[in-house]
Amino acid sequence: MFKELKILDESDKRLRIVSKNVTLPLGAEDKKLIKQIIKQLRYSQIDEYSKKYNLRPGMGLAFPQLGIHKRIIVIVEEIEDGVFDNYVVINPEIVSNSVEMIAAEAGEGCLSVNREVEGHVKRFARVTIKGFDEDSDPIQFRAREELAIAFQHEIDHLDGILFYDRIDKKRPILGENEIRFI
Ligand code: NI
Repeated sequence: MFKELKILDESDKRLRIVSKNVTLPLGAEDKKLIKQIIKQLRYSQIDEYSKKYNLRPGMGLAFPQLGIHKRIIVIVEEIEDGVFDNYVVINPEIVSNSVEMIAAEAGEGCLSVNREVEGHVKRFARVTIKGFDEDSDPIQFRAREELAIAFQHEIDHLDGILFYDRIDKKRPILGENEIRFI
């Protein structure tokens, strides 16, 4: 059975709260919620289910988007047709980043933002992420390109930041000579 999670809308001030580090080990409720998030993100990226359940496609969600202020992020990336990689990171930190910056050419989207937002968001092209997995084991890995953007976007949620906060109000659209688009 599929039960849709209620995701806070951008108008909700709770999205602006800075989330707290999670004390490990993870509780059963948090683990259950992570499973539900993975399922929903996966369904949202599969046409049949996104239509059936009326889900807006998304690849990432952070706990504060559910009104829970714990530093937990989930990313579900489709690596090939119908094949998904899941990333669950508890207390994530960016421990190093590339000098090179990139931006999603079409702009970023967010499951809490139900409208098109024009403008480019500058992100590091590569980041190294450190944190813990669901079993409290320390993890560290490198993310690049779209996945790197996803991690930076989700970690921002933990600090109460929405992607459009990072769009330059005076010059929202960047040129190809100032940044590499993906
Ligand atoms: Ni978001």
